[in-house]
Amino acid sequence: MDAVKLREGVYWVGGIDWNLRNFHGYLTPRGSSYNAYLIIDEKVTLIDSVKYYLTDEMIERIRSIIDPSKIDYVICNHVEMDHSGAIPAIMELAPNATVVAPAAGEKGLKEHYKKEWKFSIVKSGDTLSIGKRSFTFVQTPMIHWPDNMVTYCPEEKILFSNDAFGQHIASPERFDDEFPACIAIDEAKIYYGNIVLSYNSQVQKALEVVNTLPIEMIAPSHGIIWRSHIAEILKCYTKWSSNDVDNVALVIYDTMWGSTQKMAEAIRKGFETKGVKVKMLPLLHNHISQVLPEVVEAKYIAVGSPTMNSNLLPTVSGLLTYLKALSPKKRTAFAFGSYGWGGQSIDQVQNELKNCGFDLLEPFKAKYIPDQPTLDAITSKVAGYIA
Ligand code: FEO
Repeated sequence: MDAVKLREGVYWVGGIDWNLRNFHGYLTPRGSSYNAYLIIDEKVTLIDSVKYYLTDEMIERIRSIIDPSKIDYVICNHVEMDHSGAIPAIMELAPNATVVAPAAGEKGLKEHYKKEWKFSIVKSGDTLSIGKRSFTFVQTPMIHWPDNMVTYCPEEKILFSNDAFGQHIASPERFDDEFPACIAIDEAKIYYGNIVLSYNSQVQKALEVVNTLPIEMIAPSHGIIWRSHIAEILKCYTKWSSNDVDNVALVIYDTMWGSTQKMAEAIRKGFETKGVKVKMLPLLHNHISQVLPEVVEAKYIAVGSPTMNSNLLPTVSGLLTYLKALSPKKRTAFAFGSYGWGGQSIDQVQNELKNCGFDLLEPFKAKYIPDQPTLDAITSKVAGYIA
């Protein structure tokens, strides 16, 4: 397995995870890659690494360029194990190398691996010269761990952005002009919805810095490297992080005997009457990690569950737990659902939507099977919600 040249002396030496279908609960039908980068200069530098089970693949790619014992610096942009998992093996091969990380990165690496490596602690604005090239570090805390940073090489105009701008894609292609860019952008949005969405304000702050840098290449730690569609992906991140929503409603629900589904259809009609585009997301057919990317640009969120055993359905409960952890600001939401006697689920859903921080509209309840006048009243009331 060979390295892939990005520029003279700058190589991709990552690993391709063809078999990955679930990334801590996020479905990844296209697999993924963990992108590590090797820079050959007076000092040899490795930026990030791979998941532990792809260590041999990464080392083989490094060996296609240089003996790994010659590595002087290992820059750790992010401690999460999909990027740090092979650092212990690299430090065995290059025991004199210095690990470059922010203070939170050093702490995280020590807590993960219990090793006393040589560290150089950096913060935003610090630079590291490796010969003809240098690196400038920009901390991006909580996008999406406390230790996150990005590394910029001004001589090459490359931003090594770690998780930011990444996508879970396994492919033999490395660049956005070798791979369908629309798929890369779609996967970047899926990644954003499942990993980054709750950190919109931190992304905005990071973009303020990134937008001041001349960039010819964005080299993330997952998926395709951006060199021909940089403006597009930056524009997408600007929109996704700014809560600039579209006139779209999501109707997310599960159903026991079809009554909550009937209500979902009535709600759809109400939105459509007022020209709002509707996406129907029954949880029987949509995994929660397929729902969150739709939240990125949606203005309205209706969530429905019938009542079962005095509770909401587990599928809806799972969705709400996931949504609450990632919930962005400036969305309008309401609950709906059918019931037989207790009807607790509707208030439970509404309460969780409140906990998400959404602006709430009045919920809808229907006993057993909603008749046509009940459904028509729901349609009419939803239409009335739209200004
Ligand atoms: Fe790709 Fe936060 O790790």
